[in-house]
Amino acid sequence: MINNHDRVVTRGLRDVAAAETKLSFVDPLGALYYLGYNINDLVGYVCYEEVVYLLLYNELPNKNELDELRSELISEMKLPDAIISSIKSAPLKSHPMEVLRTEVSHLSMYDPDNDYKSEKANKKRAIRIVAKVPTIVATLHRLRSNQQLVAPKEEFGFPENFLYLFQGTPASTKEKIAIDRFMTLHADHGFNASTFAARVTASTNSDMYSAVTSAIGTLKGPLHGGASEKVMYMLDDINTEAEVEDYIQGMLDDQKKIMGFGHRIYRAEDPRTKHLRTIAENLCNRTNTLDLYNLCIRIENVVHEKKKIFPNVDFYAAVTLNALGVPFAFFTPFFASSRTSGWTAHVLEQYQDAILLRPSSKYIGQYGRPFVPIEKR
Ligand code: CMC
Repeated sequence: MINNHDRVVTRGLRDVAAAETKLSFVDPLGALYYLGYNINDLVGYVCYEEVVYLLLYNELPNKNELDELRSELISEMKLPDAIISSIKSAPLKSHPMEVLRTEVSHLSMYDPDNDYKSEKANKKRAIRIVAKVPTIVATLHRLRSNQQLVAPKEEFGFPENFLYLFQGTPASTKEKIAIDRFMTLHADHGFNASTFAARVTASTNSDMYSAVTSAIGTLKGPLHGGASEKVMYMLDDINTEAEVEDYIQGMLDDQKKIMGFGHRIYRAEDPRTKHLRTIAENLCNRTNTLDLYNLCIRIENVVHEKKKIFPNVDFYAAVTLNALGVPFAFFTPFFASSRTSGWTAHVLEQYQDAILLRPSSKYIGQYGRPFVPIEKR
């Protein structure tokens, strides 16, 4: 027997590089690159569909390529009838992330293509998943709020269509900009936990739906994408700026994590924060929720003073989605609807790497325990 008691464990896999990727780089000093482009050079200059193309094809598209991808995405937004019926039958108490996780898994049974091996078929499949995930989210919301389903419009962009399917009315210019940038900023983020989960599943040569289902289950947790919903509960709990100091101190005294703050990699401000802060501010000005925005700025300052940590993507993402009228429970599904582009791109990259992701562990249990038959226990 090989005794592995001396094995060194890297708890939480902190700083462990599990594979190579060219898709995105999370710079601890506070920068984020998609295929070498700093996100500051993309946000506001490209649309989300260009980012989807960049992640899946590793180059920015020309005009024709972009038009083609956009119309493919929009035509793929339609869901099979069986999925709509299944969404209808989900228990009302189920969380939208549970429904989304289930329906993405369910979708795999309706994929029209039997080719699960070729890169070409898997790229098409990626586009299908990127297109259908937002429709599942929007359909669930419309059905739960007893509203008619609406069909996507050819003349709308893809994020704009997502909001249209969700709200049932065309988005204003400010909303269009907000949702496009929100989706661009959430598209990819290195080897975050959900992406890693997707890659582990793909590394067994399992199919893309299984990998995305794993990713959704992982994103759901409050230490990851589930944080944005929790941010809103915290903001709801604090009534005025004057209460912030005591509230935050109370959380820290109770050893509780402040949701939407801190990050495993960044040692400076999350580079997505400044963009989301601006989007949130614009929307809050419009919807008269400036008090909420000001409360957030106060929380940011107090948390930084006390813990020297910064808000992460989830903090202002929550304020943005709230200002767009998205119910709290749908915040993480909006994150998932944007991250599918990154997840599917990572799955394609993992298929190319073609290695099973299977770490080891340090065994700390016993050896050679005397077996006792059940009658004698
Ligand atoms: N509230 C209070 N203290 C915190 C927080 C927080 N949100 N985040 C980190 N700290 C503390 C942590 O306890 C540690 O303190 P000490 O040195 O006194 O023990 C110190 O800051 C350093 O923490 P760390 O080692 O950098 O944290 P980590 O890498 O283990 O955890 C994290 C990262 C994201 C899980 C954590 O920051 C957290 O739980 N944040 C709240 C949940 C959240 O917002 N998640 C979203 C993450 S980013 C986007 C996404 O993935 O969706």
